[in-house]
This record gives sequence, structure tokens and C-alpha cells, in this order.
Amino acid sequence: MYYPEELIEEVRMKNDIVDVVSGYVRLQKKGSSHWGLCPFHNEKSPSFSVSGNKQMYHCFGCGAGGNVFTFLMNYENYTFPEAVKQLADRAGVKLPEVEYSPEMQQKANKRARLLEVNKEAAKYFYYQLRDTHGQIGYQYLKKRELSDETIHKFGLGYAGKNGALLVQYLRQKGFEDALIKEAGLANFSERGGLLSQFWNRVMFPIQDSNHRVIGFGGRVMGDGEPKYLNSPETPVFDKRRNLYGLNFARTARSGNIILCEGYMDVIALHQAGFTQAVASLGTAFTSEQASLLHRYTENVLLAYDSDGAGTKAALRGIGILREAGLTGKVIDMRPYKDPDEFIKNLGREAFQERIDRAENSFFFEIRVLEQQYNQNDPEEKTKFHREIAKKLCEFKEEVERENYLQAVADKYHIAFEHLRKLVISYASQTGLVRPVERPKSGVQQKNKPEENAKRAQRLLITWITDDPGIYPKISKYISAEDFTEDLYKRVAARLFEELERGEYNPAAIISMFEDEEEQREAAALFNTNLPELTTVQEKEKAFHDILLSVKRNSYEYYASQMGSDMNALKSVIEGKKALEELARTRISME
Ligand code: UTP
Ligand code: MN
Repeated sequence: MYYPEELIEEVRMKNDIVDVVSGYVRLQKKGSSHWGLCPFHNEKSPSFSVSGNKQMYHCFGCGAGGNVFTFLMNYENYTFPEAVKQLADRAGVKLPEVEYSPEMQQKANKRARLLEVNKEAAKYFYYQLRDTHGQIGYQYLKKRELSDETIHKFGLGYAGKNGALLVQYLRQKGFEDALIKEAGLANFSERGGLLSQFWNRVMFPIQDSNHRVIGFGGRVMGDGEPKYLNSPETPVFDKRRNLYGLNFARTARSGNIILCEGYMDVIALHQAGFTQAVASLGTAFTSEQASLLHRYTENVLLAYDSDGAGTKAALRGIGILREAGLTGKVIDMRPYKDPDEFIKNLGREAFQERIDRAENSFFFEIRVLEQQYNQNDPEEKTKFHREIAKKLCEFKEEVERENYLQAVADKYHIAFEHLRKLVISYASQTGLVRPVERPKSGVQQKNKPEENAKRAQRLLITWITDDPGIYPKISKYISAEDFTEDLYKRVAARLFEELERGEYNPAAIISMFEDEEEQREAAALFNTNLPELTTVQEKEKAFHDILLSVKRNSYEYYASQMGSDMNALKSVIEGKKALEELARTRISME
């Protein structure tokens, strides 16, 4: 643990969850809870509830839930220590300095210094743009129709023609030459000594998702090569793992993210109100960037250039998005080259229409394929159909494949059975997928027994935390040992121990875990969707079933362990007794 548990608990108690969440979500009090629109998924009517009693939040729509720390971790994408730090600052709690090993300390120092020098350089460029020498840069941005507000928001700047001035300025601020060089801001030259890397360019500071400047892109004035010059990779600038504009886009909450090719595209889109736009950093879109996007959205809209290179890049991007489990759609930019030009010519409403009409990535791929074959030549047309069949085989799931098969056959006027035969033939040739079969029936696959057992355990914990008065009535039948999942066991042990003492503090239990995944899992334990029941009888029956199911699972588990575990015998005997008794007992809910 980074900080002692008591301290974390102090920070948590001094930050009322209703206050904190109110800073992000408009909440309305209804009954014992506060309600608002869930910030973690798109919705029109409020299903996000915050409980002052439990000091937890829960969304009945998407299942998100947790305490004040997990809220910040999810909303701001903070790590656990970052969330603790932020809330400690908010409540005026002083945290001890964390102790690192000397190497880690050195590395952390280096990163901090690189970030400082970048920030200082960004300031320098920013002021240059407003200086008389920087007028050429300022005029350039104006010509590209950027408002002063936009220039300010993105911290745009100008690198002047005298490359020695930036270095002078940074030295004066106390940065040593080696650091300036390591940050990629300057290079040694035979004649001039250390000189700025960027020269007569409009400067785009590249920020990470916490608004820290990690690198720069510089655009040449007018024509010249290279058009954009980017900082090299440094310990703080990882081009595979960052996206331009994400620092703003991540809080846009528009239900999608627009992925573009260029910095200017991102800026033009933000200026037009599409603050969910991002771009990769002068390099091709990566799988790391896809997983980064996955933290914020399920839907990515590609707004790549409409030319051949852009189309190729879009096809590549679609594959990467698909692998990351994201849904990709393609925005048609024609007849313009890129989003920047599109917005300039047709404006924001027209762009919104294009968003609404964005093309499903599969159909985009097929449309690109179509253009490669002469549809008037029967032989070429057959080849085209074969390519479609090949693409269809990429759908692993049968129902999905079948649906696309139907849709594409309709759209391109291909006989369904003909196309289906091609798919079967292709699939069996390559062994990629089993031949397509018509989906048999709508019968759902049953859950695995372990899943059912875990679910009952989650339901029981949620039920007890929602209605702690029930605990004394069942404490003789149930113990933490009945929870077969290790994390569940730890949560139950702590919860039951607190309830024995007459305390009740589920929100604190979550921060007992160090690992963020574990924290999320623990939070979910307190926020399982309970069945909606009205009558007392229904409730009693449901609760009894859950309790019995947990107990039976535990009994079976220990029975299976008997050969290897001496203690299991005791658990089994006790478990059997409790099970029998429980079967006969009514747990009153009146
Ligand atoms: P584009 O050439 O499409 O730029 O490159 P653009 O956004 O339309 O630029 P403007 O409108 O002419 O100013 C898209 C992206 O590719 C990278 C940059 O990140 C740029 O934003 N790029 C391009 C480079 O890194 N170097 C280059 O020389 C050109
Ligand atoms: Mn452009």
C-alpha cells in the first residue's frame, strides 16, 4: 500500500461522495439517494445513483459503481494513488512523501525535469507568437481561421528564426544543456553550439491526458519539408501511447471519439464543438492507442483523409480497433480532403450529419474492395464476391457472420445462397471457421456453474449491505469461508467483522485493496443488481434462495477438497448441518 490504511480512510471520510460527484454530475435528491445522468455511459434518463449513507455510487444502467476513490479513478482516469492525492489536497489532508529506491527516484526526477523543460519551452513559444517576431506565425494561424480562444486552449506557439534564443531562455531558467537536448528541443551544431530544433514553425504542444506537455509538433510556414516536425521519443514522450487532443476529448462524453490524422483536424473539430476529436502523433495509429481509447468509449469514428493514403490508413485503423474490441465507423469526408477543410467549407451541422451517417467499418471495407474490381466483367465480379466471402469469414461469431452475410447480399444484390456457398467453401478450404450454418434456435447458452456460484455470492453481499439489519438473522448460517472466490472471501470477512461490531462501512472496504482491478471488482460486489421484488414473500423467497445457493456451493466446494485438506472435513460437517437447518428456516423480512 502506498499510504497507511488509516490515512486513506481519513481522506475518504473527509470527502463526502455526494459533494465530490456533484462537481462532475448534476445530481438531484430523491429518497435517500441522489440521482443523475451516468457519466460512464450515454443515457437520457438518470439511472446513476449516489448514496450518502453508503458513501458509494452505482449506475443501474451500466453497472458502474464504487467509492469516492474509484469514482475519480474512472472519471479522471487516475491511478489509485493519484485519486488519493487529489482528494487529500481537496480536504487539506497532508500525505507523507512516498519513499522510492534511488534508481526510481532518479528516474522520477528525470521525468519531472523533462516535463518542466517542455512546459517552459511551450511558454516560450506561446509568448513568441504574440511577439512582433512571431507575427508571421500568428497571421498564419489566423489565416487558417483559428480564433484567439482556440489558439489559447491548445497553447499554440511559434518558434522563431533565431535558434539560439530558446536555448538562452531555457538556460536562464536553470535547465542544463544535456536536458534541453534530451527533451529533443535543441541540438548541437559545429558553428552555433546548441540550437533550437524547431525553427520558423508554428508550434503545437502535445499534451498527455493530464495536460502535461510531453512533446511538440511544429508546422512549417507555407511549403517546405518536412511539413510537420515532431519531437523525438523521450522518457516522457511515447508516441505509441498518447493521442493529440485526448486531454480534452476524454471528458467530452459525447458517446464516441473521433479519430483524425492531423493536429489541425483535431483543432478545427474542437473549435467547431466536436471536443471528442483526437489524432495520433505523426505516426500510424497503434494498438496501444486503441486500448487507451477503450477506457473512454466503445465507438470510434474515423475521420481520415479522403485520399488513397487516408483510405489505406483507415482500413488499417479499423483492424486495430476491431482487435481492441472497439466498434469503428468511417466518416465520409468527400468531397473535401480532411475534417479541417470540410468544416471550413460546410460547417458544423454538415459535419454532424456526416457523423450520424458514418459507415459501418465492414461496409466501408467492402466498398473499398468494390472499387478494385470492374463490376461489368463477370470474372472480376466473381472475384469481388470471393473477397466478400473471405471478409465474412473474419467474423468469429456465427450469428454475426450470418447477419452480415444477409446484409451484404442485400446491399450488393448478390443471391444469398450463392454468397453463403462461397463463404462455406472459403471457410472449409482454409479451416478458418466452421461452415456457416443457419442459427438453430434462440436458446441461450447456460452460464457456467462457477459463474452462477459467484453471482449468488455477489448478490448476497449486495443484499446485506443494502439491508444490514438482516445480518444478525443469518450470521449463524454464514461465514466468510462460504465465499469461494478469494477476493469475495476477504470482502466478506471484513464486512461481517464490521457488522459484528455494529459498524457498517462498505466504502472503506474497497480501499483495502491495492490493485485497481481488485478495487473495481470489490466495488461491484456491493452493487450487484438485485431482483426487483415487491411483496415480502417474494423477497423472503429470493433471499432464501440466494443464501441457500451460496451455502450449497460452499458445501460442495469443501466436500471436493476433503481428500487434500484436513480442515475441509470440519467445514463439510458444519456446512451440512447449516444447510439442513437453513432449508427448514424462514428468514423474516418484516
Ligand atoms: P497531413 O499532411 O494530412 O496534415 O498530415 P494536415 O493536418 O492536413 O496539415 P495541414 O492542414 O496542411 O497543416 C497529418 C499528420 O501527419 C503528421 C502530422 O502529425 C500531421 O498532423 N505529419 C505530416 C508528420 O508528422 N510529418 C509530416 O511531414 C507530415
Ligand atoms: Mn489539413
